[in-house]
Amino acid sequence: MVRINKAYDLNHWLLVLFFLAQLCIFVSSSDPSEIQTLLKFKSFLSNDTALDNWNNSTNPCNGTTNIWAGLYCDKNGNVYGLKLQNMGLMGIIDIDTLSGLSALRSISIMNNNFEGPLPSANKIGALIGVYLSNNQFTGEIPEIAFEGMNQLKNIYLDGNEFSGEIPSSLAALPKLTVLDLQGNQFSGEIPNFPQDPNGWKHFNVSNNQLEGPIPASLSNLDASAFVGNKGLCGKPLTPCKSSMKTTKLKNSLDQFEHYAMTTLYLSEKQLLHIIMKTPNQDPRSTIQFRLLSACVGFGPTSVLFFLLLDIKTSVLIFNPQFCAND
Ligand SMILES: *[C@@H]1O[C@H](CO)[C@@H](O)[C@H](O)[C@H]1NC(C)=O
Ligand SMILES: *[C@@H]1O[C@H](CO)[C@@H](O)[C@H](O)[C@H]1NC(C)=O
Ligand SMILES: *[C@@H]1O[C@H](CO)[C@@H](O)[C@H](O)[C@H]1NC(C)=O
Ligand SMILES: *[C@@H]1O[C@H](CO)[C@@H](O)[C@H](O)[C@H]1NC(C)=O
Ligand SMILES: *[C@@H]1O[C@H](CO)[C@@H](O)[C@H](O)[C@H]1NC(C)=O
Repeated sequence: MVRINKAYDLNHWLLVLFFLAQLCIFVSSSDPSEIQTLLKFKSFLSNDTALDNWNNSTNPCNGTTNIWAGLYCDKNGNVYGLKLQNMGLMGIIDIDTLSGLSALRSISIMNNNFEGPLPSANKIGALIGVYLSNNQFTGEIPEIAFEGMNQLKNIYLDGNEFSGEIPSSLAALPKLTVLDLQGNQFSGEIPNFPQDPNGWKHFNVSNNQLEGPIPASLSNLDASAFVGNKGLCGKPLTPCKSSMKTTKLKNSLDQFEHYAMTTLYLSEKQLLHIIMKTPNQDPRSTIQFRLLSACVGFGPTSVLFFLLLDIKTSVLIFNPQFCAND
């Protein structure tokens, strides 16, 4: 029994060694199946004369030098990047086929004529960069489109016609440091980006239809990264309306109380319909108030009720104060 087991073990380990040796050969030389994979990928493209030298009589790579147009090759002679830019390409980006390129880390198809929905790049979980700028991609991006892409650092989707909300799976990418969504039709609020606020190498969501407050984690960025979205507010753009109102009213109220108490002290208890402007100490403060006040009761326990009406926004503030006593 024991002997048989040992023989089995030996065979087993020889087999393992054999496969390891195969793997080493496979890793250190150009993968022959890359030719078939790339040619299959090309067969889904059209207007592809720029890729005329993609044919099976040569290898795509010779070490780090690409023989076929538009490829980046690694030191093992495998394709790690597609750089198919400015080629007038159309047709389908067949991600299922590309997923057969085991060394592939980056896809750039910028400045072509691709249409339709976002290619399902998350089928290649190892990608570091996805560059789709200036095509005619359209439509909403599914919420989970970027799920599992834990290596992804660089995303360029600018200059397309993507719409709908910025997918939360994109905002959640742990290594994201470059994001350009400029010049699409993204709408809704900017989701929270939990990455290090100082880690951004590039961030631009300008010229979309985004609205609502800019998340605090992005407030350090340049205002030009957010311009061209009518509804965005908050740092680094102008303050959001609700918080602006609160801040202005609070400032004005402080000034008002000082002013009103002085006025009340000077003119005693019988003030009605005082129209006042907030003092011009703060040049940003342009709010006008109408003061409606009345003193109820007499003597030291008299209470002055006054209503503060912000004439512009018609906001009423009710503020009970003790009457000034002589
Ligand atoms: C393959 O590409 C080479 C250029 O790299 C070209 O000279 C040759 O004609 C091509 N062969 C075919 C069958 O397309
Ligand atoms: C190479 O391409 C030619 C023309 O497309 C084809 O006839 C031939 O079978 C291919 N050879 C291999 C080894 O794939
Ligand atoms: C590959 O590159 C080496 C060294 O740069 C060169 O000597 C060789 O001719 C190249 N092979 C092909 C097929 O281009
Ligand atoms: C086809 O590609 C060429 C460049 O290779 C480009 O000039 C041309 O505009 C493209 N045609 C279409 C219809 O996109
Ligand atoms: C964002 O893109 C717009 C439009 O191209 C540009 O004007 C602006 O300078 C860019 N801002 C940043 C921070 O990249």
